[in-house]
Amino acid sequence: MNTGFTVEQLRAAVSDAVRAPSLHNTQPWRFRLRDGGIELSVDPLRRLPATDPTGWGARIACGAALFNLRLALAVAGTPATVRLRPYPAEPDVVARLVPDLPRRPTPTEQSLHGAIRRRFSNRAPFWPDPVPADARWRLGEAARAEQCWLELVIGTSAVNAFAEIARSAHRVLERDPAYVAERRAWIRSEPSPDGVPAAAGGPRSEPQDLLPQRGFGGRNRAPGRDFEPEPLVAVLGSAGNTATDQVVAGQALQRVLLTATDSGLSVSMLSQPIEVPGAREALRLSLGRFGMPQMVTRIGYGQPAAATPRRSVDEVLDLPVVPA
Ligand SMILES: Cc1cc2nc3c(=O)[nH]c(=O)nc-3n(C[C@H](O)[C@H](O)[C@H](O)COP(=O)(O)O)c2cc1C
Repeated sequence: MNTGFTVEQLRAAVSDAVRAPSLHNTQPWRFRLRDGGIELSVDPLRRLPATDPTGWGARIACGAALFNLRLALAVAGTPATVRLRPYPAEPDVVARLVPDLPRRPTPTEQSLHGAIRRRFSNRAPFWPDPVPADARWRLGEAARAEQCWLELVIGTSAVNAFAEIARSAHRVLERDPAYVAERRAWIRSEPSPDGVPAAAGGPRSEPQDLLPQRGFGGRNRAPGRDFEPEPLVAVLGSAGNTATDQVVAGQALQRVLLTATDSGLSVSMLSQPIEVPGAREALRLSLGRFGMPQMVTRIGYGQPAAATPRRSVDEVLDLPVVPA
């Protein structure tokens, strides 16, 4: 009878969990073992007060890390049962995972797990090749499998209407000096275990760009290397917008991202229209969907992107101190 997870199992799973995406690559997570269960918490020291005043982004990132944890444990033959936000008095604890009956991993778990270390944000222009129908369907299925929805924004007028909402949200954010200072503070020109390396920042924005790029100190683009004229924009949404819904959405986001990677697709995220309440509401109304938009992605085929750094497993673990 398996009574609890071990420190070795925790370490192995956390090394996959930390590959999850996070706002500005802040990596706002902590992991520990408590009574044989693995617990994942938001790291209160890694919040972004100006960019993410409600904690939405930190919970999305922790949800994504949780999905990786689930996959890592399942692929190791030790799947977990998950309880979300298990302690009302400790709202930063996002999830508690306890061992489920051992079983062999499914082919889907294996392929998604294999994609964890090949998934990177790709902020460069994509090739004009359309995303085929079966790949679009797989992405929608990935969101549904995690109790969320993925709405593809189809057609020139819908994409233009979305772009207008996104650009106006971007302008609102860029007028806030605290937001701008936070964004700049997380750009890295020297090697660092967190933040966004300038080389990963994508090309510098130009006036002809349809979608607003968050400025991470990107380079000038080669002549003619403009963004695709009609990008495939997909909005991920959840049934509600409680803190728990946001953790659910983070898991769905990661499942969509890994499914995209497994299908040979590149993805970038743009969350400005989620971060500005008026823009989020306009987006919600434009989609006519029940529930709440939680993330926007741009999906296509592109040149492979590179990995961004992560802090080591030791830096994100809280282990009991063993007396010498
Ligand atoms: C909640 C959330 C919001 C994000 N918003 C943006 C965004 O607006 N623009 C962007 O370029 N990347 C965005 N990202 C992607 C992160 O910057 C990226 O995940 C992080 O830098 C780590 O890089 P990686 O995804 O390549 O591992 C977001 C990620 C998360 C989880």
